[in-house]
Amino acid sequence: MDNDIQEVLFDQASIHNAASRLGQKITQDYAGEKPIVLSVLKGAYLWTADLLREVDLYVDLEFINVSSYHGGVKSTDEITLVTDIRSDVKNRQVIILEDIVDTGQSLLFMKDLLRKRGAKSIKVATLLDKKEGRKVSIDADYVGFDVRNEFVVGYGLDYKEMYRNLPYVGILKKEVYTD
Ligand code: PRP
Ligand code: MN
Ligand code: MG
Repeated sequence: MDNDIQEVLFDQASIHNAASRLGQKITQDYAGEKPIVLSVLKGAYLWTADLLREVDLYVDLEFINVSSYHGGVKSTDEITLVTDIRSDVKNRQVIILEDIVDTGQSLLFMKDLLRKRGAKSIKVATLLDKKEGRKVSIDADYVGFDVRNEFVVGYGLDYKEMYRNLPYVGILKKEVYTD
């Protein structure tokens, strides 16, 4: 897999630093509270594991599976709710965990859904923020790193379901996905 990567942007050590920085912030901001942590599958699976181990709070961990890329290199503008959550979010504080915010459309979809269901507050903690990719006006509350407008994979992020198990985030070589 390493051969398909043009450049490593964030290695394990820097991701760990980001997790510990954001984990401390979240621990302070939610002191005495018991938020629902909503992990967005599949991309956020590693970020969830690493970030949450830096959060010293009682939390309810929930998973939702939404998909917009459908495996490709571009967001499709069509968000599919693959698997919903089971618990009631009414009057609860929710922290959404994302691996990346790009167009913002997945996030908007989930925030609308949670608002409709009566969540008391909704915040977002993302490892990567690709601000140049935005199509809707939405922002994350906790950001690990800003990332430039390149197609990145690894540490949860996929191309056609591959590379999620790379321990770092890197830019995929163009020749791997242009035909
Ligand atoms: C990716 C990523 C985010 C979303 C961000 O998920 O993990 O969830 O897209 O893109 P957006 O801001 O343009 O909506 P994807 O749809 O690829 O599903 P996956 O997590 O299962 O790979
Ligand atoms: Mn995702
Ligand atoms: Mg994907």
